[in-house]
Amino acid sequence: MSHTVLVLNGPNLNLLGLREPDVYGTGTLADVEAICRAAAADRGLRVDFRQSNHEGVLIDAVHEARAAHRGIVVNPAGLTHTSVALRDALAAAERPIVEVHLSNIHRREPFRHHSYVSAVADAVICGAGPHGYALALAHLAQLIPQDR
Ligand code: DQA
Repeated sequence: MSHTVLVLNGPNLNLLGLREPDVYGTGTLADVEAICRAAAADRGLRVDFRQSNHEGVLIDAVHEARAAHRGIVVNPAGLTHTSVALRDALAAAERPIVEVHLSNIHRREPFRHHSYVSAVADAVICGAGPHGYALALAHLAQLIPQDR
C-alpha cells in the first residue's frame, strides 16, 4: 500500500504565476502540484495537495495529518513569520516535516528571516523555486518509516 503525504500551502500561494513573478517566478500552483505528484510517485508516495488562505483551515489540515498522512511538506507562506498556532499544530503532528519556501527568505526583508516553523521542522529548503518541493519530497520520503 502506498503512503500519502500532505503538501500544505499557505496564504496567497494560489496566486503563484501572477503574484510578484520577479520573486516567485511564473510557474503556477498547478505546476507545483504536478512537480510534487511526480516527485512523490517516484518514491511510491501519494500526495494530498492543499492550499488555503485561512490559518484555521491550515491548522485543521495539520490535525488531520495525524491520522491520514505519513509526513508533511509545508510552505506556510506569510504565516511562517507570524503564526505560533500553526507552529504548535505542526509540533503536535508527530510526523516528519519539511518546510519549503520558493524564495530565499534569508536574502529578503529582515522580517522574513525568522520562521516560527523551522524549529519544529526536520529540514528547511528555501530559494530553490518550485524544484524545492521536489527536494522536500525526496527528503521526506527518507524520513518516513518503511513498513516491514
Ligand atoms: C514564501 C516566503 C514568505 O516570506 C512569503 O510570505 C510567501 C512565500 C516563499 O515560498 O518564498 O508568501 O513562503
